Amino acid sequence: ALSRFQLSEDYGFLLPNPLVGDGRATLPQLIASHRLRSRVHQMPQLSTRHLRGREELYLAHLVLSFITMGYLWQEGEEGTVKVTAGSPARGELAPSGSPPILSHADFVLANWRRKDPSGNLDPIISLPGGESLRGFILVTFLVEKAAVPGIKAIPQAIHAIRQLDEETLHQALQGLATAIGAMAALRQYYVDPAVFYAVIRIFLSGWKDNPAMPDGLVYEGVSEEPMAFSGGSAAQSTVLHAFDELLGIRHSQESTAFLHRMRDYMPPPHRAFIEEIGRAPSLKQHVLCSGDARLRAAFNRCITALADFRSCHIAIVTKYIAVAKAKAGRAEVGGWAGRPPAALEAKGTGGSHIFSFLKSVRDTTRDGLISA
Ligand code: ALA
Repeated sequence: ALSRFQLSEDYGFLLPNPLVGDGRATLPQLIASHRLRSRVHQMPQLSTRHLRGREELYLAHLVLSFITMGYLWQEGEEGTVKVTAGSPARGELAPSGSPPILSHADFVLANWRRKDPSGNLDPIISLPGGESLRGFILVTFLVEKAAVPGIKAIPQAIHAIRQLDEETLHQALQGLATAIGAMAALRQYYVDPAVFYAVIRIFLSGWKDNPAMPDGLVYEGVSEEPMAFSGGSAAQSTVLHAFDELLGIRHSQESTAFLHRMRDYMPPPHRAFIEEIGRAPSLKQHVLCSGDARLRAAFNRCITALADFRSCHIAIVTKYIAVAKAKAGRAEVGGWAGRPPAALEAKGTGGSHIFSFLKSVRDTTRDGLISA
């Protein structure tokens, strides 16, 4: 049943065996030496007609979307362009029907490989940011991986509700709470806050809800009208959308509108998974009506774990955005000297009002508790 939604038993929403391709090692260097734009202009016209299978489509989107972010932000927030030229930054960028911009699926889901037999991980493709970018990508990978038992608990829980099988439902909820706890505990890789703030963020940001690109972007050869797309954001990960949907959490109107927009940046089968959960019988109603104290406690453990996860996230964002902003220094990595982008001071790279959004979502999660 999971495969219907392009979900893997072992990897969840991650692409299980991404193709690696070759010749990508140079992207951060081309950006650092300000040569990427001219290189893109020299590239031959690309066609996605001959791509076959999910792996090839993911790889094509991955490489082209990374090139597009490098192309757009190569000269920082004051050196943007209004029109993209060159094949990668055009319609060819959307071979899999995904928006022509870097998304969470590109940045994390399809961007990993085992670099040696002992299983050490590496991103397939990078942008400026060196080891800190690597750490940011890989820790997000680990969160997706740690979510897998929780994702698998969702169809189990729904099936158990339908069968009125309270024992299985209780186990599924226990599994979900444990998985969320494991997601919150991940700290394996070091990411330097100054590098994150001054170097990494701009390359993830988009041309919608971004004061540095107020007019959007004309995709030459696709449309004369500028188009606006949101930058990459963890809000595009299907994991928390799926948990919220199962647990019946109701976010504020504004947060819900943003989260729903972010669903357009997910692979369509993953979006379909959330929608399927929304059509299932309500877990919360079931727990309320059952009057079963043990079920209620297990349900509430999921809610508490999810609210705690979101509090951890707020603490991390405080360190990497609010504190880093107060220090507001330049940072240099691999020959790339980054300046903190002013347009992203109060905004997430996906365009949200970052702190009010994260706090509202955490608080409405807590409101999902069932009181005794
Ligand atoms: N969404 C993260 C940020 O706002 C990457 O910096």
